[in-house]
Amino acid sequence: MSRTDPHSFFDPDHPLVRRLELFLRPDFPSKTLSGEVLLHFDGASSGPLDLDSDGLRILSAAAQDGRPVHHALGDPDPILGRRLTLDLPPGTEAVRIAFATSPEATGLQWLEPAQTAGGSLPFLFSQCQPHHARSIFPCQDSPRVRVTYRAEITVPEGFTAVMAAAPLGARSGPEGRTFLFEMPQPIPTYLFALAVGRLESREIGPRSRIWAEPETVEAAAFEFAGTESMIAAAEGIFGPYPWDRYDMLVLPPSFPYGGMENPRLTFLTPTLLAGDRSLVAVVVHELAHSWTGNLVTNATMNDFWLNEGFTVWAERRLLEVLKGKEAAALAWALGQRALDRAMERFGPDSPLTRLKTDLWGVDPDAVYSEVPYEKGARFVALLEKTAGRDVFDRFIRDYIGRFRFTSITTEEFLAFLEERLPGLAGQVSAEAWLYRPGLPANAPRFESARMALLLRMASGWGQGERPPAEDLRALNPDETLLFLQNLPRPLPADSLRELDGLLGLSGQGNYEILVEWLTIAAQSDFETAFPKIEEVLSRVGRMKFVRPLFKALSATARTRALARRIFEANRARYHTLTRRVAEAEMAAYPEG
Ligand code: BES
Ligand code: ZN
Repeated sequence: MSRTDPHSFFDPDHPLVRRLELFLRPDFPSKTLSGEVLLHFDGASSGPLDLDSDGLRILSAAAQDGRPVHHALGDPDPILGRRLTLDLPPGTEAVRIAFATSPEATGLQWLEPAQTAGGSLPFLFSQCQPHHARSIFPCQDSPRVRVTYRAEITVPEGFTAVMAAAPLGARSGPEGRTFLFEMPQPIPTYLFALAVGRLESREIGPRSRIWAEPETVEAAAFEFAGTESMIAAAEGIFGPYPWDRYDMLVLPPSFPYGGMENPRLTFLTPTLLAGDRSLVAVVVHELAHSWTGNLVTNATMNDFWLNEGFTVWAERRLLEVLKGKEAAALAWALGQRALDRAMERFGPDSPLTRLKTDLWGVDPDAVYSEVPYEKGARFVALLEKTAGRDVFDRFIRDYIGRFRFTSITTEEFLAFLEERLPGLAGQVSAEAWLYRPGLPANAPRFESARMALLLRMASGWGQGERPPAEDLRALNPDETLLFLQNLPRPLPADSLRELDGLLGLSGQGNYEILVEWLTIAAQSDFETAFPKIEEVLSRVGRMKFVRPLFKALSATARTRALARRIFEANRARYHTLTRRVAEAEMAAYPEG
């Protein structure tokens, strides 16, 4: 027995699952998914098989020919869930497991109708990365393992099921409608994704359609109309798009992330619907994962930077093509601030600030941060700068070609780098970047005159210097955000009122700006903004917004009381992950 993944019971010496067949039926009243999974092996197999499971009720297990398969659940581990050990009789080609999920499944969120735009039907969605697929079906839940699958999802009339897979139509039966899917490309289980609700779609390009509730689908189609040009730009750098379709699903606002790169069907938060296409960088990012991530991903969460670092770097390269150098520089600047915050959160000597991490015994969700994203992207940008763009672009295409549809370690990446660009790793002190904490001194800096001006405007504001109103209003959304981020805080109430009046902050459609404004207001104990803070925290589950708001509400006894009241009123409706980050922030509040 040899485990290689800190977050999975997957054992590389056991039979390897290569294909799944899933038959699932959501039951909204009981908040459970029940059904069967058929696990197909490489060939005829026998002996022990360790699977991951979390909260699952296992009803039966049998071989393809009906022979029962002995199975046993281990004790629950707070991070891994429960090991499900099967004892496969000789000649087992596939095993069929009947099971039901728990209403608390960490990979699912069951929404009340009131949590949707339509308000009439409940909604269900999954979020499997990094290790939550096991709360939906038993599987080898390690990214080292890739599977193709076919699925049949049976839902009541009026509901539509969508998956990150090719849709093969639907048929009606006595128990409702059954939607059929096929995923022909092999994926790690963290890229399994499903949503069920009242959904409609609109074509937005030759290989893209947008799915959303009927109430939001038009706004979504407008916001993401530029998708095909993004795909074309990405193909220019990385080569042909390898997943046939690039569709998107806009979820209800409790979705805990900005975006999730589920293959063929990116999942997105509705907080991207700013009305002016100012937040499409998240789509660029998720699209970039189609190559850096979904084609070549991390072997375990210890190598997560390979996935996110390369993708942030790719995202900024694409932004440069799509929106120009200045826009890309601003994105790097916003990222630098996020990185600084993350480094402060862990401390500069924390091993969590290494690119290669050691997460044995550590919950990957609890240590999720911008470090693998922004430190990782800076490392890739340094390699690019040092090698030269043309050389590095060729390297990236070779890298993706060499490792496509696999999952690799940092060391496998390093070996390939040394083989193709000998000496480069040494030249940039790759060892320090990968294995030591903090941000190395040779980190590339992305400065621009525009940015320096914004910083001066922000610090001036704190000293009572008011730039001409038209200058402030002329800022684009990313510039406004940078300006707000760099304002001193707390600010006095009259200064906040002036700012809000000038920039219309409380009525902002751009959630990045709105939430930055509300964190300033919270940190300044600015009562006028309390209702808006409550409104946002009662609706939006995106952790990127919920965490800083709860953090900012630690400012005074009054804001802490507000935070506790909002949390109590909403805890039952929050996604498990959202609830956990809010609790973690409030646990750090001072007494009273
Ligand atoms: N794959 C991530 C989201 C994720 C990471 C979910 C780890 C669970 C575990 C996705 O690609 C992502 O990074 N989303 C970001 C947006 C991006 C522009 C940085 C987000 O959700 O904010
Ligand atoms: Zn990402």
